[in-house]
Amino acid sequence: MKVFITGANRGIGAGFVRHYLAEGHDVWACYRSDLGELAGIDSEHLHTLYWNVATDLKPQGELPEKIDLLINNAGIYGPGKDGQSLENVTAEAMLEVFNVDCIGPLRVVKCLRRRFADTAVIANVSSKMGSSADNSSGGTYAYRAAKAGLTIVSKSMAMDLSVENIHVITLHPGWVETDMTNQTGLIDVETSVKGMTRVIAGADRYESGSFIAFDGKLVPY
Ligand SMILES: NC(=O)c1ccc[n+]([C@@H]2O[C@H](COP(=O)([O-])OP(=O)(O)OC[C@H]3O[C@@H](n4cnc5c(N)ncnc54)[C@H](OP(=O)(O)O)[C@@H]3O)[C@@H](O)[C@H]2O)c1
Repeated sequence: MKVFITGANRGIGAGFVRHYLAEGHDVWACYRSDLGELAGIDSEHLHTLYWNVATDLKPQGELPEKIDLLINNAGIYGPGKDGQSLENVTAEAMLEVFNVDCIGPLRVVKCLRRRFADTAVIANVSSKMGSSADNSSGGTYAYRAAKAGLTIVSKSMAMDLSVENIHVITLHPGWVETDMTNQTGLIDVETSVKGMTRVIAGADRYESGSFIAFDGKLVPY
């Protein structure tokens, strides 16, 4: 299988890379700043590309002719919690996070559109923070809105690409020990990735456009 992953140099993205390489797949791993954890992986099956999904610039590096699985993983949280309160959140912060977390995956799919294999899977990594049904604490305006937007974008992709037999799912990784959570998550990257890759492997058991947590449970949105 040819697997394409954005935001792959650290955190959950790097976990996806290690998982699919260990399973013997060919992995195209994108980074924005530096190679990070990718620099320490010695595998002829690993291909690295530079891609900042916050811009319309094309990725730099060789693209696969066909992609069986795209994981839109790159994302930012934006300003820390207080910076996203009703009092403090700014239009600038809202736009910055929306640009990366919601428009980024859309840019990636538009750019790779003609490269998806028959029966390809697109997995868009959102967050329960973007679920209205799950929002009982308010705040976090930029991140919640951007991830909610991504879930809606993901659903439209599911509808539009169904005629091409492309299955689209939205994922919630759990609360994971990464830089994004200052390593304060409830589960480690391996547990999150093990769960999400199991969901991806059984993606056809879920209706296209479904929002699914790492434990396989549907997330209402
Ligand atoms: N950790 C959690 O508990 C949690 C929970 C729910 C959802 N998520 C989602 O899971 C995904 C991965 O999160 P994580 O915890 O692994 O975060 P992370 O450790 O902060 O890693 C984020 C990754 O996204 C990349 N990235 C950020 N902006 C980018 C851009 N403009 N273009 C390309 N790449 C960019 C980063 O690259 P650089 O190294 O260049 O910054 C990095 O590789 C995100 O979408 C996040 O929202 C995480």
